[in-house]
Amino acid sequence: MYSQVEHPAGGYKKLFETVEELSSPVTAHVTGRIPAWLKGSLLRCGPGLFEVGAEPFYHLFDGQALLHKFDFKEGHVTYHRRFVRTDAYVRAMTEKRIVITEFGTYAYPDPCKNIFSRFFSYFKGVEVTDNALVNVYPVGEDYYACTETNFITRINPETLETIKQVDLCKYVSVNGATAHPHVENDGTVYNIGNCFGKKFSLAYNIIRIPPLQADKEDPINKSEVVVQFPCSDRFKPSYVHSFGLTPNYIVFVETPVKINLFKFLSSWSLWGANYMDCFESNETMGVWVHVAEKKKGRLLNIKYRTSAFNLFHHINTYEDNGFLIVDLCTWKGNENACVAAPLPADTGKNLVTLPYTTATATLRSDETIWLEPEVIFSGPRHAFEFPQINYKKYGGKPYTYSYGLGLNHFVPDRLCKLNVQTRETWVWQEPDSYPSEPIFVSHPDALEEDDGVVLSIVISPGAGPKPAYLLILNAKDMSEVARAEVEMNIPVTFHGLFKRA
Ligand SMILES: [Fe+2]
Repeated sequence: MYSQVEHPAGGYKKLFETVEELSSPVTAHVTGRIPAWLKGSLLRCGPGLFEVGAEPFYHLFDGQALLHKFDFKEGHVTYHRRFVRTDAYVRAMTEKRIVITEFGTYAYPDPCKNIFSRFFSYFKGVEVTDNALVNVYPVGEDYYACTETNFITRINPETLETIKQVDLCKYVSVNGATAHPHVENDGTVYNIGNCFGKKFSLAYNIIRIPPLQADKEDPINKSEVVVQFPCSDRFKPSYVHSFGLTPNYIVFVETPVKINLFKFLSSWSLWGANYMDCFESNETMGVWVHVAEKKKGRLLNIKYRTSAFNLFHHINTYEDNGFLIVDLCTWKGNENACVAAPLPADTGKNLVTLPYTTATATLRSDETIWLEPEVIFSGPRHAFEFPQINYKKYGGKPYTYSYGLGLNHFVPDRLCKLNVQTRETWVWQEPDSYPSEPIFVSHPDALEEDDGVVLSIVISPGAGPKPAYLLILNAKDMSEVARAEVEMNIPVTFHGLFKRA
């Protein structure tokens, strides 16, 4: 018997409603007191247009990219949003139909075209979406909105105007790149992407974009592949959403979520197929963990294995006494948990000897190392997701705190802080209120890791004329410091950053 699980309030559906962009920023109504030191912009990406005319986008990842900005200046807050002028958006607006196939939505061919032009447009190749709805990140002095394909879109972080589309394939050997690059404090950007090489060989390339140099040349021109991870399957690459980076190592967790390339390539001859139809799971492979030395660009010749789970987000990765600690938000069965998987960096030392973790690593007769993780957060039907940390100071280093969005049956209804050492948690939650990924902003004179605030966009549909607000929490105890309300709905946002003024 089929029964649908419904969140009690159901107001979260407002997260998936089309909204209009703004022609200029609006002033938000502040209650509480915005910290005087908080100066800059919260930039976030998400879908904002969920249909074109009568044609709906079918998947959460398919709505057209809307870029949001909350500006903080002398205790005042303004809100602005603009659609990113991607090809997918501009063509949909111009032709008044969905033109480019998205993750879960197939773009039907123009019915005006006859069968022959359809045939030739198939052979001209697949049109890959540039719908930059997932994240925004800096490269040199520029900012890019992105999805997970080879296209990224340069935007103006002040006006939110679209500047240009960039095709990463023209600069470096990848077929796409994740929306979760690592950006080091000197501006170096690392990312990972699938690479379909010669003779149909599959691999995952780590790319490096250097910081802006004195010649002021666009750093993307200097992009390079620093190391290549092998693929566990000759024909099926795994889906990759993020990866781990420490001062000396790059960690790639290869999960059983596979992209069936045969389906992928043939789907364009079958009307109605989309990217989502090409995913499948190969649980028997378990999870393979690959490690490379960052500076030498050299793979560690160690085969790390663990049991199957799905993965979107790495929390943090660090080195400690010859081990790598890899904290992840895993999805395993119906449960969600974060795990700590210590990796011996020295093959002669296979047992985990760190005093603070129950995670183990065992050398097996087939010369693989079996990693048994330690669960650091687990709740029935509750997930700790969209993890954030004090990245600037603790990214790639030993750390204590992670901030996350609590999902209840996939509905975001809480903000959480997790002490990854002691497992202590703090929660912010209000009825019929749906927050977004919490972004940590450190106090400029911070002495401790959690000296600062956490920023999240919350929608609260029952709240009357001000259904959405920017929430500022004290990162120490997740208590409310202030909120800045706006008189409009704000649909779901996935990821973003705080750009200091
Ligand atoms: Fe993500």
